Amino acid sequence: MEVVIVPDATAAGELIAEAMATLMRRKPDALLGVATGSTPLPIYQALAAKVRAGEVDASRARICQLDEYVGLPAGHPESYRSVVLREVVEPLGLGEDSFMGPDGTAPDVQAACAAYDTALSDAGGVDLQLLGIGTDGHIGFNEPCSSLASRTRIKTLTRQTREDNARFFDSLDEVPHHVMTQGIGTILEARHLVLLATGEGKSDAVAHAVEGPVAALVPASALQLHRHATVVVDEAAASKLK
Ligand code: F6R
Repeated sequence: MEVVIVPDATAAGELIAEAMATLMRRKPDALLGVATGSTPLPIYQALAAKVRAGEVDASRARICQLDEYVGLPAGHPESYRSVVLREVVEPLGLGEDSFMGPDGTAPDVQAACAAYDTALSDAGGVDLQLLGIGTDGHIGFNEPCSSLASRTRIKTLTRQTREDNARFFDSLDEVPHHVMTQGIGTILEARHLVLLATGEGKSDAVAHAVEGPVAALVPASALQLHRHATVVVDEAAASKLK
C-alpha cells in the first residue's frame, strides 16, 4: 500500500484525476469504479475539466457504481445512480449506456446483487476503483464486521452512517436503512484501488486502516491485502498516522 499525503482536497482531486486520465490514455475503455459521498467530488470536477480542455478523451470510458440505497424510487435525486449520473457520467460527456450499477429498485435484491457481481466480471473487471472511507472505517457500505471475503449483497446501515448521510436528505427518517454494496472481496478484485480521505474527521479511520491490523472491524484495512492500493490523504486526515 502506498500512502500519498497532499496539502488539501483540491490537490488530492487533481492527483487522482490525473491518474484516471493516464489510465484512459493507456486503456480508453477502462472500467472506472466510482464512489459517492462528498469526498470524491473534487476528483470528478478535475477529471471533467481535463476532458473539457481536451487533455484526455473519456468517450470510451465505462463507469460503475460501488453501492446503492435499497428502496428509493427510480430517479430519486439521492439514489446513487442519480448522483453518479449527475456528478460523473454527464460531466464526462458520457451516456447512460456507459454506466452500470446495482439495481436498488429490483424486486429480488439478492438476485440483483449477484447479477451485479457477474456483470462486473463479464465487463472484464474494474480497472481503477475509487473509495472513500466512513468515520467507522467502512468502504462502500461494508460496515464494521463485514467479511473480508464478502461479495455484493444487501447490508443494513449503522445509525452512525445514516446520521452521516442525513445531510443529503430532508431528515434522518428519509435515509434508507438498507443498501446494496460491492463486498470487500468484490472490491479487492479491482486492479487498482484508490482511497481518498480528507479532513480531520477521517484521521482515526485512516490511522486504523493503514497502520492497524487487518480486521473485519475496520473494513478499509483490507486494502493492506491488495497488491496495488493507493491511499491519498490530506494533511488533516493524515494527522494520526505515525
Ligand atoms: C459511498 C461510499 C461510502 C463513502 C463514505 C464516505 O459510495 O462508498 O463508503 O465513501 O461513507 O463518505 P463521504 O465522502 O461523504 O465522507
